[in-house]
Amino acid sequence: MKNNDKPKFYITTPIYYVNAKPHIGHAYTTIACDVLARYNRLLGKDVFFLTGTDENSQKNVQAAEKEGVELQMYLNQMSAVWQETFDSLGFTNNYFIRTTEERHKKAVEKFFNAVYERGDIYKGEYEGLYCEGCEAFVGRGDLVGGECPIHKTKPKSIKEQNFFFSLSKYREPLLSFIKESKDFIQPKSRRNEIISYIEKFMTDISISRESAVAGIPVPVDQSQKIYVWFDALINYLSGIGYGWDDEMFKKYWPADVHVVGKDIIKFHCALWPAMLMSAGLALPKRVFAHGFFTINGEKMSKSLGNVVSPAEIVEKFGVDAARYLLLALGDNFGEDMDFTWARMIEKYNADLANGLGNLVSRVVKLSEKSGKFVSQEFFQKDEISGMVDRMELSKALKYIWGLVSESNKIIDESKPWELVKNDKMKFEEVMNDLTARLQKIAENLMPFMPETAEKIMVSLETKKTDILFGRIAVNLK
Ligand code: MSP
Repeated sequence: MKNNDKPKFYITTPIYYVNAKPHIGHAYTTIACDVLARYNRLLGKDVFFLTGTDENSQKNVQAAEKEGVELQMYLNQMSAVWQETFDSLGFTNNYFIRTTEERHKKAVEKFFNAVYERGDIYKGEYEGLYCEGCEAFVGRGDLVGGECPIHKTKPKSIKEQNFFFSLSKYREPLLSFIKESKDFIQPKSRRNEIISYIEKFMTDISISRESAVAGIPVPVDQSQKIYVWFDALINYLSGIGYGWDDEMFKKYWPADVHVVGKDIIKFHCALWPAMLMSAGLALPKRVFAHGFFTINGEKMSKSLGNVVSPAEIVEKFGVDAARYLLLALGDNFGEDMDFTWARMIEKYNADLANGLGNLVSRVVKLSEKSGKFVSQEFFQKDEISGMVDRMELSKALKYIWGLVSESNKIIDESKPWELVKNDKMKFEEVMNDLTARLQKIAENLMPFMPETAEKIMVSLETKKTDILFGRIAVNLK
């Protein structure tokens, strides 16, 4: 198949603020996207996986000031830290976008002009509250005890001349789109929240800031900077060629799925589709909102200072185990999950060391005495496909671990070490079954734990195991 004939699959993560280093919440979103990207590549699709950094934010300006580093230098250093962390987790993103890139800036200008020409941008006065942590205008109803419930800070009071986007003009088109496109907002439980926001609370929004230091100047008034969210959302277009490579843009747009945290779903399910309608572009097919990592029930966040870094997890468990543990910790990809080292270690020991590690070393060791392993057909579709498509990633992992325990049970019950001595035929039969099972497990693991999957395949071929699980003992502190 030529590249052009392949069905395409375009997946994105949110772009990350660089006012601090990544924590496991950010890694989590990106691991999930990497799994989907790898999985769809294995299915033969032409995949584009985009991630990157959101750099035109006032938060970044403050962080640079605090560090005493010039802004652009700070952004370069921090964006590099994010890229390195993502590389260390084995991510296969096709591009890493930065919103301070020239071509992103050009794309934002092009987009702004399209919306402006449509007559959807007007000048007005904004008076109200602004939470710098959220980079969002907030109403009193959003506050708890006068503070933003996420950042635990008092919002700023702002009064300035701004450009506004006629968001409310799109109320009816948005509602009918959401009602018709049953799969647009996922999980389904989030749909009502968005519908009620659009029906009851959505108003026109200010899309420029008079006082901002960072940001892309408004094309029709250089004294104002474009509001960071209006700018950031456009990364989904500029990352695939909008404004600089039309052919590539046409190939990948619309996005098949934007994966986001549940805190930024309104931006993605209301503002973003309205912006696209206004600019005359197609709408993304799906927005999937996942839950948060919490620590003692509170969202893990840089502003609360309760973060765990991906590097700590990788150092302790290795890349593949880190990928597994983060995705497997929750019951459901859409729900919150409380992080504790004890739970990670317990899961590591149970699922990886004793579960998978034990299975691999037993099957490979026993296979030394059996005939040659014949590799089966490559990447078969399996029950797991539907789960991955629906982003039921923890469920997909549970399914794979079901296969692991089933296989371990077969070994315990059939006792191949006895069969090899007194029933060679039965031994070959059992070993054939076990190696086929292990191969299926490895195939299913490919998008989740690529290096481990590869090592299992090689171990089956060479009859030498190089899998470390089962040999590492992590002491529970
Ligand atoms: N820059 C915006 C996104 C713009 S997209 C056009 C932003 N950045 S962020 O760095 O604050 O957050 C990025 C993503 O990380 C969000 O999806 C957010 O939900 C996610 N997470 C932040 N903390 C998290 C946890 N504790 N747990 C899981 N995900 C979390 O918002």
